[in-house]
Formats: sequence, structure tokens, C-alpha cells
Amino acid sequence: MIKMALLGAGRIGRMHADNLAANPRVELTSVYDVYAPAAQEVAERHGALAAADVASVLEDEGLDAVLIASSTDTHVDLITAAAQAGKAVLCEKPIDLDIARVDQCRAAIADCDVTVQIGFNRRFDPTHRGVYEAVRAGEAGKIEQIIITSRDPAPPPAAYIKVSGGLFRDMMIHDFDLARFLMDEEFVALSAMGSVLVDPEIGALNDVDSAMVVMHTAAGSQCHINCSRRAVYGYDQRVEVFGSAGMVRSDNRRPTNVLRDTATRTNVSDPLTNFFIDRYPEAYDAELNDFIDAVESGRGASVTFEDGRRALILADAANESLRIGGVVDVSYD
Ligand SMILES: NC(=O)c1ccc[n+]([C@@H]2O[C@H](COP(=O)([O-])OP(=O)(O)OC[C@H]3O[C@@H](n4cnc5c(N)ncnc54)[C@H](O)[C@@H]3O)[C@@H](O)[C@H]2O)c1
Repeated sequence: MIKMALLGAGRIGRMHADNLAANPRVELTSVYDVYAPAAQEVAERHGALAAADVASVLEDEGLDAVLIASSTDTHVDLITAAAQAGKAVLCEKPIDLDIARVDQCRAAIADCDVTVQIGFNRRFDPTHRGVYEAVRAGEAGKIEQIIITSRDPAPPPAAYIKVSGGLFRDMMIHDFDLARFLMDEEFVALSAMGSVLVDPEIGALNDVDSAMVVMHTAAGSQCHINCSRRAVYGYDQRVEVFGSAGMVRSDNRRPTNVLRDTATRTNVSDPLTNFFIDRYPEAYDAELNDFIDAVESGRGASVTFEDGRRALILADAANESLRIGGVVDVSYD
């Protein structure tokens, strides 16, 4: 059993707290949030300590790891402080919105011999992972094209958009990571298109709500990602890998597989699961167990800091492509 603390008890932090408390391999010892009532409520619910500050969390010599689920602009400082205190880190995506700060963090923790894992939960979803395993087993042959569809049910409030870093760094970053995970080599060039089709307020904030990206590898294998901030039928999460020997796909999930046929419709199924907490529960849990495996075995994180950095580099390239209206070469140096 490892001892973990939770830093950040907001929307996703509360879900992580439930997973930490329910996992027999973890003891959730303390919770810290800059908004003390949130930490208190979550800590009380799970019999943990509500910490007064980060320093007191990290001073605990018995603590093995922290799960960082605080606002994005706090991740770099918290990763650095935790890693330098010798604590393993599972940190929500994205590492930061600024690649320069990510690089500074990378340098600051370079000599820290601890596991640092980034929370790209979709890699652990059973159906997306099933696609990965089938593809790595050669079932699609040589990968030629990947298509990822990623649409949220409804746009977030303007206050969220304002600090989100924009669609590519906030939302599509998950899909950039999934694309890298599924493809067998890095993407070297990218072209993005973005529009405001859903919510003019998003446009007023200089962001887009509908975007398509096309990328290719040095060998010419291609990937297309499409994102929308609004899908009236629910959270739309599909992945398709096409290759020389066939195609492997993961489709949307529904609460049940019940199909209804009536006088006016056939094959009518349940609505899609609502949003990420409903769609990806097994993924968040598997991500946590994978992190615990990494900490206990010392084998290194399976989703690394560098994975988080590279996904951000692709997101930045998409913003640059949008700005110049053309293809951008991608370098990971
Ligand atoms: N992997 C996923 O599926 C997923 C989903 C949602 C959010 N996220 C990421 O998780 C992070 C949090 O998102 P959210 O939607 O829960 O946001 P949120 O605003 O609901 O929660 C953030 C919490 O962090 C707290 N906080 C702010 N500064 C802090 C600090 N210095 N130390 C400790 N706590 C601090 C806030 O008080 C708040 O309670 C973001 O980085 C977001 O991108 C990931």
C-alpha cells in the first residue's frame, strides 16, 4: 500500500479522491486545496487530513506520492515541489499552457529519481486500449491512417474558456496524446483549421469551438482529429485505426446495449454517456493502478512527462498553423 495526498479538490479532484479512497492499494492521507472548504469537505468524506498548505503535505516523510488535480497554472510549481521532495507525481493534463515553463520544470526535476506520470486517462480506457493492443498485435497491419473524433456535449462557461488555453491545449491535447499513443512513430507536420460555429462568446475570447487537424509522420502515415465543443447527442469519443491489413475501431459507449425497434425507428439505443466522468470511469481507475504499479516497481511512468510535453508541442503547432493558415513542421527539441 502506498500513501498519497490529493492536491486540488475541484471537479476532477473530487472524482480522483473517490478513486483514491476506494482503491485498496492506496491510503489517502491528506487533501490540500487553496480553497480550504473544498479540501475540508473532501478530506472529511474520506477520513483524510485537510492540509493547511502544500509544504505540510510534502513534509510528511511517510508520504509516497501526490495526485495533482488543481488548476492548470499550478501544475508546474506543484510537480517541481513534489518531485524535489522525493514524492512520486500523478498530474492532470496539461502540464502547463506555456512550453517554456514546461521545459523549465523538466530541467528542475531532471535529477529527481521519482515517477512522474501525466493524466492522459484515455490511454487506459478499455476500448481505446483494446484498439492499441490490436494495432500493436498487427491486426491493422502497417498503420496508414488514424481518425479521432472528440466532441464534448456542450461548451463550458466563458469563465472556463478564458483561462483554458484554447481548444487545442485544453481539449484536443487528449487527442494529440491518443494519436501519439496509437501511431508507431512521431508526427512531424500538422495543419489545423478552426472555426466558431457553436458559441460566439468563444470567438469573442479569441478561441475556436470547432477544429480539425491533419498530421503526418516522416513515413507519411496520417492522422485526422476533429473536435467540437458541442454535440447535441452527447459525449462523442471514437477512434479508428486503418492500415494495410484492416481497420480497428472503438465506438461510443452507452449505459446499456438495449436496442429498441418501433413503428417509426429501428436500432434505437440509450443516449451516450454524458461526459468524461461518466464515459471514462474505468480509465481513471486503471490510470491510478498503473501509477501505483510504477511507483511500487520503480519501472518508470507509462505516460511520461515527455508525453505531456509533446502533446503540448502538437497543440502549440495547431495554434501556429491556425495563425499562419498553413502547414507547420513539428520539432520536439
Ligand atoms: N483528465 C481529464 O479527463 C480531465 C478532466 C477535467 C479536468 N482536467 C484537468 O484537471 C485540472 C483541474 O480541472 P477541474 O475541472 O477539476 O478544475 P476546477 O476549477 O473544478 O478545480 C481546480 C481546483 O484546484 C484548486 N486550486 C487552485 N490553485 C491551487 C493550488 N495552488 N493548490 C491546490 N489547489 C488549488 C481550486 O481551488 C479548485 O478547487 C485542470 O488542469 C484540467 O485541465 C482533466
